[in-house]
This record gives sequence, structure tokens and C-alpha cells, in this order.
Amino acid sequence: MLDNKGFDIWAEEYDEFVDKNSSGYPFEGYYQLLNRIYDVVDIKKNSKILDIGFGTGVLTNRLYNDGACIYGIDFSQKMTDIAGEKMPGARFIRWDFNLGLPPELDSEKFDYIISTYAIHHLDDYKKVQFIKKLKKSLAEKGKIVIGDIAFGNRQQLESCRNKNKDIWDKDEIYLVSEEITEALAKEGINSEYIQISSCAGMLEIL
Ligand SMILES: C[S@@+](CC[C@H](N)C(=O)[O-])C[C@H]1O[C@@H](n2cnc3c(N)ncnc32)[C@H](O)[C@@H]1O
Repeated sequence: MLDNKGFDIWAEEYDEFVDKNSSGYPFEGYYQLLNRIYDVVDIKKNSKILDIGFGTGVLTNRLYNDGACIYGIDFSQKMTDIAGEKMPGARFIRWDFNLGLPPELDSEKFDYIISTYAIHHLDDYKKVQFIKKLKKSLAEKGKIVIGDIAFGNRQQLESCRNKNKDIWDKDEIYLVSEEITEALAKEGINSEYIQISSCAGMLEIL
């Protein structure tokens, strides 16, 4: 699993890397997933959106250009610099989401909280606790939408792992819809999962 320095090194090449590797694990369906989330997010004038692990801002930048008021957290300085150049009016905060949300955002309420290809850095317990916290930062009728490397059930994850033994990242903790929706339900949180590709899915918190 990469730390913030690892992401700093990857940042310059990230967009090109994803572009060249958008077939097969891990980025199969990358653009379809981002497009799907883009379609779910209904931008009104000054909609406030928080992106968790915004990276180079591939999705965020589209929402920014549509007029959304963009906030984001990411622990990589280089990713933050690149995204900041594309979106000078956005409020990007360098922060490790293992610590929850930064205090600067305590009083903010968001119409959408989105996250793509980042939440696999948290184990499932932390994912659920984090989602619980994020819900408190939603405006009325606000939504959380998460896209990531994800599988409908454990067998599908294992099958993908077996096909990709050489490149499988054993430190990343991918979403398994059957398990995470149940864990969320135990906390009283309803969610809906849609499989987008062989290894990507979208989790909408209802
Ligand atoms: C694979 S990139 C995804 C970037 C972008 N969301 C996308 O879909 O292309 C993961 C991003 O999450 C950030 N990230 C990973 N773990 C993090 C953590 N614990 N706290 C904050 N940011 C983190 C990385 O710095 C990186 O920018």
C-alpha cells in the first residue's frame, strides 16, 4: 500500500498510467465508474462537494468546471499541487483520512461527499466508522457516493485475485458489497451497490 510519498512519486504519471491501464485489474472500468458517479451527482448552483482522496482530480475537475464548490482532502502534497493547479478556486486540504476529517471542515455541510479509488486504504471496520462520520457532514438530502475496486461477493474477489496473482496488491482492502452493505446495515446505514466492471463498483449511501 502506498504512503503519501509513494503517491507523490506516482502523481505526475497518474493520469497517463490510468489511461494506459484501464483494461484489467486494477483499473478496469475506471472511466465508466467516474462517469457513473458524475451522473449521480446533480449539480445545482454552488453545490458543495467534498472529494476524499481526490488525487489529480480527474472526476473533481469536471464537477468544478460545472460550477460546484469543491473541497477535498488528500495526504499527497504532489497530488494536491496538481489538482490545485487545475482547480484554483477549490479548497484542498492535506490530510490523512485515517484521522477522520480535518477540523477545518467541522462546520461544513456537503451536498455530496464522493471518493474514488481511495477508500481501500481503510480496513472494513474503519470504512464503516468513517462513513458514519461523513454522514454527519452531509447537508439535508446530501449523499455519499463511493467508487472503488470492488466486488459483489468474496468469490468474485478471489477469482480476480487468482487471475492477477502477479500484480495483486495484498495490502489494499477492497470493497465486497455483500459484506460492507451488511456491516453498514448493522449501524443503521442503508446502501446500494452497483457493479461497474469486473473489479470496480459504486456504493451509494442512502
Ligand atoms: C489511486 S488515487 C485515486 C485518485 C482519484 N480519486 C481518482 O479516482 O483517480 C488514491 C488517492 O488517495 C489518496 N490517499 C490514499 N490514502 C490516503 C489517506 N490515508 N489519506 C488521504 N489521502 C489518501 C492518495 O494520495 C491518492 O491521491
